[in-house]
Amino acid sequence: MPNQKPAVLFVCLGNICRSPLAEAVFRAEAARQKLDAEADSAGIGNWHVGEAPDPRAQAVAKKHGVDIGGCRGRQVTHEDFSRFTHVIALDRDVLAALRRLRPANATAQLGLLLDAVPGREGEGVTDPYYGEDDGFETTFSDVASGTSALVRKLSETR
Ligand code: 4NP
Repeated sequence: MPNQKPAVLFVCLGNICRSPLAEAVFRAEAARQKLDAEADSAGIGNWHVGEAPDPRAQAVAKKHGVDIGGCRGRQVTHEDFSRFTHVIALDRDVLAALRRLRPANATAQLGLLLDAVPGREGEGVTDPYYGEDDGFETTFSDVASGTSALVRKLSETR
């Protein structure tokens, strides 16, 4: 639908590290760039449904002035593919899983977060869950680049 307000769902594996960060940073960036848009996040898996984000993700967010403490994990649903205009995967495995889950009546555009960043098309945001704390800084930096570029792209196409 032309001129539909963008509604973006960010999806990672667990919905406790990367996608809650993407949701919150996208919201902040949309407000900064004056784009009227909605954002939410979900996971491919159901392991962390109802849980708050990983404390390390909350800490890196707080350090950069973003609060993700109110997010609660949820699993992606078939309805998400028509409720949202864009379903954005944080990495390539997640994108592949979304392509398998996508129902026939899906209307949302699928893509990778870093597709919006010139020169980083096709790249994923590394999963920091099993790594050291400094991985979360890299995650935050990639999420910030991706969401800022995505807001710009969505603003241009409106
Ligand atoms: P996320 O990180 O996908 O960025 O939320 C993960 C969180 C949990 C698991 C994997 C990745 N897990 O296997 O439980």
